[in-house]
Amino acid sequence: MPEPDEDLAVGLAQAVEAIGAWQQTFGDFAVHPSVQVPDAHWRPAFEEYLAKLTAPGEQYPFFHPHYAGQMLKPPHPVATIGYLAAMLINPNNHALDGGPATAQMEKEVVADLATMFGLPTDGRVLGHLTSSGTIGNLEALWVARNEHPGKAIAVSRDAHYTHERMCAVLGMEAVLVDVDEHGRMDIDDLARVIDSHDIGTIVATIGTTGLGAIDPLAGIIALARDAGIRVHVDAAYGGFFTLIADDSDDGVPSEHFRAIAQADSVVVDPHKHGLQPYGCGAVLFADPSVGRHYRHDSPYTYFSSDELHLGEISLECSRAGAAAGALWLTTKVFPLTPDGLGRVLRPCIRAARRMHDRLQDSPSWQALQAPELDIVGYCTRTDSAEAMDADSARVFTALAHTDREEQWHLATYSMKRSDLDRRGIEVQGDADRVRILRSVLMKPEHEFVVDDLVDVLEASGPPTVEA
Ligand SMILES: Cc1ncc(COP(=O)(O)O)c(C=O)c1O
Repeated sequence: MPEPDEDLAVGLAQAVEAIGAWQQTFGDFAVHPSVQVPDAHWRPAFEEYLAKLTAPGEQYPFFHPHYAGQMLKPPHPVATIGYLAAMLINPNNHALDGGPATAQMEKEVVADLATMFGLPTDGRVLGHLTSSGTIGNLEALWVARNEHPGKAIAVSRDAHYTHERMCAVLGMEAVLVDVDEHGRMDIDDLARVIDSHDIGTIVATIGTTGLGAIDPLAGIIALARDAGIRVHVDAAYGGFFTLIADDSDDGVPSEHFRAIAQADSVVVDPHKHGLQPYGCGAVLFADPSVGRHYRHDSPYTYFSSDELHLGEISLECSRAGAAAGALWLTTKVFPLTPDGLGRVLRPCIRAARRMHDRLQDSPSWQALQAPELDIVGYCTRTDSAEAMDADSARVFTALAHTDREEQWHLATYSMKRSDLDRRGIEVQGDADRVRILRSVLMKPEHEFVVDDLVDVLEASGPPTVEA
């Protein structure tokens, strides 16, 4: 697909035509006048809509490599075309009756995800797509609670906030485990938490949201097994990097990614690094027998097949069949292999490592730590907490508020001063928290622009010196 925009237009038109032709085969019918829209109503509404979406200051250019801020990028055109084609039919993957084709596609992609992680499948996988990582994690914690009623969850303090929140929803205690100087779960503190609390499940994060840190899963699993504790892996962000967990120069270290195969449950978000539009997470379980927790009766659905319907193994009822269709089509074009989707991820790793190296050589900027994935944290070289915070805010705003072609969009990240200290970045002052800058380099094109980004940072003025 050398010209994405052109191919997108052609693909979308082909999808509309193909689904229209299929509809025709069922015979003509009269569209009810109540849903017909006169051109005079449609045109201005559509124009207003497009104008709002693209109004100055209303929308960040997530598609552009100069957007190097948060975890945001548009889906690949293949996913957009795949989504639209299925959406015109609007299958509901709750039940096989809601969308036989996309339900089958969901089963296939879920099996592919399980294979990617090396989960024991034995031809049977318990898992499904979810509308988000949040819902996937909720389901995994709900199963964890049902497997170990009354027991607590151990989760690192740098894990996504959703875990503490969902523990509250589920009436479970969440015990926070400290992190080491890289933001990874501290194994010694985990051992202390296990000794002092009745822990039923440990949540390990493979790619923290803030800095992409990888919790030491291999050691966590060893500790958990000795104590009869479950392990849930939140790989919402980092899961697809399993494809390049080969210890190579532009891959990621294999040890903890390989250990995912021994986890009890895993969440991965195709709407993060799987090229999908929002509305596509996934949860997988190693032991299909935990499916019993989902058992329920539905008098309205499940009538066309004796096979297990996806709604029977999911907490959500209606789910977009289009999400499964889009992911299925995408994995045909970018298979879950090192040379398939893996080739899209390597440039992101190269970009992050390049940016880190440039920052380490910079007179005015420094990297927070060596990136484990494609997320880089950085700050000015100053020994004042207030100055560092002010520099981050100043550069964040200045780079975003200039001519469009010159703009750079970064993100700020609020850190405890003690977490900077641990990384050997000592700053003085009264502030307990300090903002640094953070760039999620999740588009392969970031590889081509990171040098420009560091040049722009260096040109943004020397670090503020406290009066
Ligand atoms: C590690 C991790 N877990 C969970 C989530 C929540 O996922 P979602 O935003 O898809 O609900 C995120 C989102 O950034 C994440 O990075």
